[in-house]
Amino acid sequence: MIRHYIFLCVLTSCAVTIGPVADLVIVNAQVSPDGFVKSAVLAGDTLPGPIITGQKGDTFKINVTNHLNDETMLTGTSIHWHGLFQRHSNQMDGTAFVTQCPISPGHSFLYEFNTGDQVGTYWYHSHYGVRYCDGLRGALIIYDPHDPYRFLYDIDNVQRQAVPDSVLINGIGNYPGGPDTSYAVIHVQPYKRYRFRLLNMACKPNYIFSIDHHKLIIIEADGQYVESLVVDSIQIYAAQRYPFILETSRPVDNYWVHAVPNLGSPDVNPKIRITPNPVALQETDLHPSYPPLPILLQEDGADVKLNIVLGKNATSFNFLINGVQYTSPSIPILLQLLNGDISASEMAPNDSIYSLPRNKHKFAVIRSAGSSRYNYVNPVLRDTVNTGFLGDYVTIRFITDNPGPWLLHCGMALVFAEASHDVAASQPLSNSSKQLCPIYDSLPQQNFSLPPPN
Ligand SMILES: *[C@@H]1O[C@H](CO)[C@@H](O)[C@H](O)[C@H]1NC(C)=O
Ligand SMILES: *[C@@H]1O[C@H](CO)[C@@H](O)[C@H](O)[C@H]1NC(C)=O
Ligand SMILES: *[C@@H]1O[C@H](CO)[C@@H](O)[C@H](O)[C@H]1NC(C)=O
Ligand SMILES: *[C@@H]1O[C@H](CO)[C@@H](O)[C@H](O)[C@H]1NC(C)=O
Ligand SMILES: *[C@@H]1O[C@H](CO)[C@@H](O)[C@H](O)[C@H]1NC(C)=O
Repeated sequence: MIRHYIFLCVLTSCAVTIGPVADLVIVNAQVSPDGFVKSAVLAGDTLPGPIITGQKGDTFKINVTNHLNDETMLTGTSIHWHGLFQRHSNQMDGTAFVTQCPISPGHSFLYEFNTGDQVGTYWYHSHYGVRYCDGLRGALIIYDPHDPYRFLYDIDNVQRQAVPDSVLINGIGNYPGGPDTSYAVIHVQPYKRYRFRLLNMACKPNYIFSIDHHKLIIIEADGQYVESLVVDSIQIYAAQRYPFILETSRPVDNYWVHAVPNLGSPDVNPKIRITPNPVALQETDLHPSYPPLPILLQEDGADVKLNIVLGKNATSFNFLINGVQYTSPSIPILLQLLNGDISASEMAPNDSIYSLPRNKHKFAVIRSAGSSRYNYVNPVLRDTVNTGFLGDYVTIRFITDNPGPWLLHCGMALVFAEASHDVAASQPLSNSSKQLCPIYDSLPQQNFSLPPPN
């Protein structure tokens, strides 16, 4: 049986934090977060990895060293910084075979990037194969000295807390019939206002998150402040982030924290709570604190219109975009671009590369899954969106202002090659970036078949 190791992190004290300048060593280890022992790939020897923090405007310098030696898994690695724009630093985006070759065992690579105006809650994970399902993931937080919601909370310390066949909250869980492991416990003081940072670092499931007898005040979605929104529950999809404020105004007691997955959830502890008239988060109720650029909101204002049809190969069950399965090229797309003045159709994998004038990408969700309404007034800006069920049309808009190849993905992928001509001038490849492929290509290739479909 394949175990899905999935994590939901509630960051609220006592976790390892590093950054913005730090070493991050990637190692193999045996872990048993819910009592079931599994070989894992860890960042900094912990599960999830250390929380990387910085202040608005910081330049992050994270020296990633690969100490992987378990040949039953991929031994190369890369780190992708989910949600960070990497403006003029496409080579630091960490998407294997799009922007770099993997870092080979015994080698290191310095990820150096400036986060500009970005603040809020992000995360990092391996972007090579499905490595992040093996444990390599952690939160990345950029503090804002002028946080508009600072008056709404008392405490924003980072505590490691998280969600497999069992759900892990802060790296702890258990499953029916499994060993008697503890539950994750989040300690809070009475009559305080806490800023929680809710991240779904799961491989696959989404969760409906709630805390018994408490309201959740959402203040951020995927690194963008939103107008505060009070809800009872938050459905959070893989890779999304919803920081919220929790007021501990109830009598001193223990309250269940629920993260009900959409897959495989027996109704045992905690029992699903039935609240009268619960207010569940609707994406269409999220509105940005700062309005998006007007250019994004003109009804007929799109310069390029792309239809992206998601599908599945009926035989292999692999995901398809516009009928094409993405296959990694042997030469990273960024290097192909820098190698010369070539068009998308000349690059590999050519059917998966869409050439755009320029890109990257907080996008405005003009139309959300499950809704037929188009919002050209105050659509939420985010970097990860639920695409809904068969027949749903989700419409996003973004401005292409960042040269380079950028991956649009979700178990499936396509690449936007943006402003190909500007890439070289905007970001010459560093010497260490140039060394990654020759080192990787000189080592014996690992050869794993895809896991069986499910
Ligand atoms: C990164 O760490 C490795 C291993 O400790 C070291 O050899 C290398 O010089 C470091 N690189 C940088 C840029 O600090
Ligand atoms: C679907 O999968 C089959 C079997 O692996 C393969 O032969 C075929 O080319 C795939 N089709 C597409 C569109 O990828
Ligand atoms: C993609 O590349 C392959 C091999 O280079 C070529 O045969 C094919 O015609 C290309 N497809 C397009 C749409 O250009
Ligand atoms: C990069 O490598 C080239 C040639 O090997 C060398 O001339 C140059 O000084 C190096 N640059 C840096 C910043 O190390
Ligand atoms: C990879 O594995 C497949 C299936 O076992 C085999 O046919 C193929 O020759 C292998 N390739 C390499 C490069 O080892």
